[in-house]
Amino acid sequence: MPTHSRFVTLEGGEGAGKTTVLNALREALREGGDEVVATREPGGTPLAERIRALLLDPSHESPCAEAELLLMFAARAQHVHETIRPALARGAWVLCDRFTDSSYAYQGGGRGIDATWIAALEHRVVGLRPGLTLLLDLDVARGRERTRGRDLVPDRIEAERDEFFERVRAAYRARADADPGRVRLIDASRSADAVAAEAVQLLRAWRADG
Ligand SMILES: Nc1ncnc2c1ncn2[C@@H]1O[C@H](COP(=O)(O)OP(=O)(O)OP(=O)(O)O)[C@@H](O)[C@H]1O
Ligand SMILES: [Mg+2]
Repeated sequence: MPTHSRFVTLEGGEGAGKTTVLNALREALREGGDEVVATREPGGTPLAERIRALLLDPSHESPCAEAELLLMFAARAQHVHETIRPALARGAWVLCDRFTDSSYAYQGGGRGIDATWIAALEHRVVGLRPGLTLLLDLDVARGRERTRGRDLVPDRIEAERDEFFERVRAAYRARADADPGRVRLIDASRSADAVAAEAVQLLRAWRADG
């Protein structure tokens, strides 16, 4: 699977601090004068954001696991085509809040879909991996505490039970174990400043190596 060194993703469970860290990384790269495109999944284009809304809306019937997987990849295909590849082609950094690792964790670990099927979709409809993935690892209950005040009405995935999120976390950790060169696990239980500082340091080291 081809990787791109300027393509960096943030992964982790609910409330682990992905968006907070992404903002810190964006500022660090912009201080260096580089163009940075900050984006998210599911979403990142107008069409993909509409698919996101369909996926997260708890008011209609739940998509079955396979429909959820395919909608995620439909949004991802569009995002890669419209946003990510063009930005990388012009030399920008792309920072993405969730990417294919989320499908392995949520639709694979969480919903129980076979990873070989996810891998086939990754090869056929994505064809691109981040050079660097920062996995924010956090206890499920602590992640919930962090988002409690914000998410008064949980979206369809946030409304899952803790056992689901424990499987998600285990699947994420297995990905870091299997691919430690790309997926760097960060202990997200520390203060936001400490977590962001480690993430910025990892990214600076990554940029200096590239
Ligand atoms: N290390 C930290 N310690 C304590 N609070 C934090 C930390 N990092 C982020 N927060 C706070 O926790 C909440 C969730 O953080 P954030 O939105 O960055 O997480 P997220 O992983 O993007 O969550 P989501 O999965 O809901 O998108 C925010 O209110 C944020 O300010
Ligand atoms: Mg977020």
